[in-house]
Amino acid sequence: MNATMQDKENEKPPSSAPRPARPWRVAVLANIKEHDKPLPPDVPPDAGADFDYIETINHIRAALETDGHKTLFIQADRNLPYALKEAKPDICFNIAEGLGGDAREAQVPALLEMLKIPYTGSRVLTNAISLDKTLTKRIWRDRRLPVAPFQEFNFGDEPLRPELHFPLFVKPAREGTGMGVDARAIVNNEAELRERVEYVIKMYHQPALVEVFLPGREFTLGILGRYDTLLYSRHPEWYEKDGFLRLPILELDSSRSVTPGVYSNEAKAQSVGTEGAPEYICPAQIDPELTRKLHHLSYRAHVLLGAQDVSRTDIRLDAEGNPRLLEINTLPGLTPGYSDLCIQANAHGISYEDLLLEILYLGASRFGLLPPRDIPLPLQKKKTEPTNGKPGNGHSHP
Ligand SMILES: Nc1ncnc2c1ncn2[C@@H]1O[C@H](COP(=O)(O)OP(=O)(O)O)[C@@H](O)[C@H]1O
Ligand SMILES: [Mg+2]
Repeated sequence: MNATMQDKENEKPPSSAPRPARPWRVAVLANIKEHDKPLPPDVPPDAGADFDYIETINHIRAALETDGHKTLFIQADRNLPYALKEAKPDICFNIAEGLGGDAREAQVPALLEMLKIPYTGSRVLTNAISLDKTLTKRIWRDRRLPVAPFQEFNFGDEPLRPELHFPLFVKPAREGTGMGVDARAIVNNEAELRERVEYVIKMYHQPALVEVFLPGREFTLGILGRYDTLLYSRHPEWYEKDGFLRLPILELDSSRSVTPGVYSNEAKAQSVGTEGAPEYICPAQIDPELTRKLHHLSYRAHVLLGAQDVSRTDIRLDAEGNPRLLEINTLPGLTPGYSDLCIQANAHGISYEDLLLEILYLGASRFGLLPPRDIPLPLQKKKTEPTNGKPGNGHSHP
């Protein structure tokens, strides 16, 4: 095998041969909130805010079990490699946020690739980049997707670039779930900027991302699928011909929330429908032109980063009403009735069970756990990712 072939081999997702028969043994991998444990002294007050409640894991397991699978939960902590060796799952349903470091959301996918265990959702590189909002925006900007002007501060005393006019918005470059974001993230002058940048760098031990403040409406856009979805989906009727399902757009109106105008960690934590919570409007009341634009942008955002099967992209309108991409979530929350993606799926008539099973089966198909459906599609002539499934072996589908 020459070097190029070796490289190509290494790019493949791990394949499991022989293909395990369904039902599968599915391990749900997640980091769980531990309220009884005091936070270590060197972490921010909202550390672990993106971790999941055990109830969410139980909902996910119950959903996967509706199609006959056996499930177990494995905490994605430092014991995970040993727990996986013992549990020997056929596939992992990955929602783990990871533990520390500069690319924590990529840690579990990296481990699974190393152990050659199939898993759901995006792979290592995509999860690493999408956690880093600055790198993500550089990639999007390179392909001419609209983002707000931005600058990353690593030390805090870098001169502010002239195109960044106040008010500005300051956030940690590599967090999620509104961590490090509250009403004070909006800064109106040089003194406030320096103070907030220093706070983020010191408290979150990472660069601060400074963007032009976007005063307009906020939307989040969920996407399912990939170019060859129609070969593997349990619900090919959900998808457009290109293999993607663009879910109804969710508008987040934070104007009357605990942090007016900012979809912060505190706002996100409020129960849907209670005072202080943002309003979740799905489908958003917007004209067809903006709808089309937003759907297109989120699709491009997903594809450009190589996201697999599911993602949610946040977009805000600038002062002129033009959409600007904020960030992409390749591990979107999956708490039924609460997480944005679940609200969007529900608005489209997709049950929680079907949403979760779809993510499972689309993931499984990339690792050869499912044979492709024998249907002629224009997309089939494109070289699909390698699978163990033999084309043309019928409709033995979930
Ligand atoms: N440039 C910006 N202008 C206005 N609001 C912003 C800006 N960037 C982020 N926000 C607000 O902060 C929230 C969290 O930011 P986001 O980039 O989505 O990070 P995350 O959701 O990962 O914490 C957004 O939902 C939005 O309400
Ligand atoms: Mg966000």
